[in-house]
Amino acid sequence: MNKLKKNEVYKVTILDVTHEGAGIAKIEGFPVFVNNALKDEVMDIHLIKVTSKYAIAKPIKIEKSSKDRVDPFCEVYKRCGGCDLQHMNYEAQLILKKQIVENNLRRIGGFKEIKVNEIIKMDNPFAYRNKVQYPVENNRAGFYAKNSHDIIEHDECLVQDEKVNEIMNYLKDKLDHNIRHVVFRIADEGIMLIFVSRTRTMGMDIESITKKFSIIKTVIMNYNISEGNVVMGYENTTLFGKGTIEDSLLDLTFRISPNSFYQVNKIQTEKLYSKVIEFAGENKNQTIFDLYCGIGTISLCVAKHFKNVFGIETVEAAVNDANINKEMNHIENVTFICNRAEDEIENLYMNNIKADVVIVDPPRKGCDQKLLDTINKMKAEKVIYVSCDSATLARDLKILCESDYIIKEIVAVDMFPHTKHVETVVLMSRKDK
Ligand SMILES: C[S@@+](CC[C@H](N)C(=O)[O-])C[C@H]1O[C@@H](n2cnc3c(N)ncnc32)[C@H](O)[C@@H]1O
Repeated sequence: MNKLKKNEVYKVTILDVTHEGAGIAKIEGFPVFVNNALKDEVMDIHLIKVTSKYAIAKPIKIEKSSKDRVDPFCEVYKRCGGCDLQHMNYEAQLILKKQIVENNLRRIGGFKEIKVNEIIKMDNPFAYRNKVQYPVENNRAGFYAKNSHDIIEHDECLVQDEKVNEIMNYLKDKLDHNIRHVVFRIADEGIMLIFVSRTRTMGMDIESITKKFSIIKTVIMNYNISEGNVVMGYENTTLFGKGTIEDSLLDLTFRISPNSFYQVNKIQTEKLYSKVIEFAGENKNQTIFDLYCGIGTISLCVAKHFKNVFGIETVEAAVNDANINKEMNHIENVTFICNRAEDEIENLYMNNIKADVVIVDPPRKGCDQKLLDTINKMKAEKVIYVSCDSATLARDLKILCESDYIIKEIVAVDMFPHTKHVETVVLMSRKDK
């Protein structure tokens, strides 16, 4: 029976760190998760929540500090929900992320002997985010606090582009009260600025903003009255510029629309895609499927090595961008289809169009079982799985390995330094190959 009570203070030793970056301690066998604590540290903690199964605490005095502890570089780190690992030095963050992937593969996937390659890190892990979303409420703009919708205001966020800080500081006291979010997308061409609004009218002086910041190439008003947590609606009105923005990756140019997915860290995306290209190999007689293809970035990057490419994506605006990207880059052997990947792969298979190589890059929830079954049925030689959630990755790899696939190589890529998130690329092949 748990005897702990909220607001009590205890001295503990941190036994390990969770995949969320919290320290784990035990008080008379009862688990306590300690925010911003590192393995082997000894500290006084204050219990801020106690449930029947666990407690949550924050450190109040660190008696023995870990060699991996550093001072967070951000003033609002302890309150803001954006970064989770700023109290660890970068090398320790990388070790933790590799462990998170390995632990999930062992625990959820059942891969006891699994090995993950050295994580691909950033040389300078700052100013990397090319998409930033500021919630706005009662004329306050910032990022959400951890596990809440309280807005934490700040003047400078060092993981995003410097120019965004400057523009946002200028906009802060000028925001129309109907604006729910301010979204920035940064590309080679410049900045796309999106005002997500509760109304279809815009009470902001767009001309003065674009005159002051010539780096802003397009301004969009996005209409969203939904109650939920989804930041953007699907109705966009272009207030300035052409409504899209262009970026380059690995010598190709991509057009990005306001609602289309685009990887948030350009430097690391090029490393990630290079790994995917290496894993896919080259065979001009073969067909490759790029499932969950977004604006077609991976499809177009691998096209020159294969006979045919099929890119499948469910968001119509992203498929439109993909088709324009195909034209802009003068690539002909790629077909983009707007449908759910799990349905379209079945349609293609029924029509006798089979992939020799399948790339999947699903959202956090991972792949549908039906999709994994169809990959197995069509006997694709290789599967390349790109994942932003190693828990669902582990679940899906288990399904593929229970059919006819084996894991050949696993690489983790640090796309999101100072956060708990980690990207993983896995190469699989059929057992009989
Ligand atoms: C992680 S993103 C990857 C996009 C792309 N591969 C890239 O690197 O930019 C996942 C994409 O899957 C799309 N998506 C989500 N559910 C889908 C489904 N059931 N079928 C096809 N696409 C889906 C999303 O719209 C998003 O573009």
